[in-house]
Amino acid sequence: MLIRRKPGWWMPESAATPRDVFLNRRAFMAASGVSIAGALLPAGIARAAGEDPTAVLYPAARNTAFTLDREITPAKFNLAFNNFYEFGSHKQISKAAQALKIRPWEVKIDGAVEQEMTLGIDELIRKMTLEERLYRHRCVEAWSMAVPWTGFPFAKLVELARPLSTAKYVRMETFQDPAMAPGQKQSWYPWPYVEGLTIEEATNDLAFLVTGAYGEPVAKQMGAPLRLATPWKYGFKSIKSIVRFSFTEERPQSFWEEILPSEYGFWANVNPEVPHARWSQASEEVLGTGEKVPTLLYNGYGEQVASLYSNLEGESLYM
Ligand code: MTE
Repeated sequence: MLIRRKPGWWMPESAATPRDVFLNRRAFMAASGVSIAGALLPAGIARAAGEDPTAVLYPAARNTAFTLDREITPAKFNLAFNNFYEFGSHKQISKAAQALKIRPWEVKIDGAVEQEMTLGIDELIRKMTLEERLYRHRCVEAWSMAVPWTGFPFAKLVELARPLSTAKYVRMETFQDPAMAPGQKQSWYPWPYVEGLTIEEATNDLAFLVTGAYGEPVAKQMGAPLRLATPWKYGFKSIKSIVRFSFTEERPQSFWEEILPSEYGFWANVNPEVPHARWSQASEEVLGTGEKVPTLLYNGYGEQVASLYSNLEGESLYM
């Protein structure tokens, strides 16, 4: 039987204040010998690059259609503060995540497609043209970053998969290996981590499959070798370390939705006017700066994505 546990971000609002999050990050980095002022860190990145035969493809050319109104969050912050429950239900999983074995890595495409296939990650990456995009990243916990992701449009994977006309959703699944990822020994979580999008969402220009960040192969703690970035949605939609894409007629149930459906839904679009059950979503702390800024509808990407939701009035679009 699945014992329902509160997720790690189940905390009193006082404990979840962005300031505290920032201070915790400072404490962690000081404890792990990382200089906050210095530009030390890319170690996590470098380690992932060493195991990655496609490392030569980075840095990829920046697609200037996707730029930002804010400074890029320095890599050292993103590398030391992560949600990756497979390696622990706290933010300081960066060391534990180095156990993630990223080669060989197979990606399966199945379900309602013309022909199911399994590809090695290097084969998949080499079929694509990598590009860099600057995206906002807004966690449901009310902190945010600005990240230079490298990858390819999700639409290109859908094109490769050739879904049948009956397919309405893409279900994505993370690896499952409790020996490598001790968090998966916690049997009260419904492993593996699962997320889903409609085909319209997955083929929207913004939906991006990430293979790199900060001009290098993406670090293990950030979801190597393949993760999602859907910047108009809360960060929990951005599933890490994907091994399977299944095209389905039925809406998939995602990991957090299964654990706590009253607080985490399928759509999870950012909306400052719809508070989380236990805290406001009106503003966010930009990590690394301590600055608190107003949150924007669809995280500022309304022009690109609002039309996806025009006929879905009855749905809980913002949780
Ligand atoms: N993917 C997997 N497989 N496991 C996770 O625990 N956490 C999610 C998402 N993807 C998670 C995941 C959450 S809650 C967030 S906010 C983002 O990853 C965090 O991404 P980051 O560590 O790069 O900031």
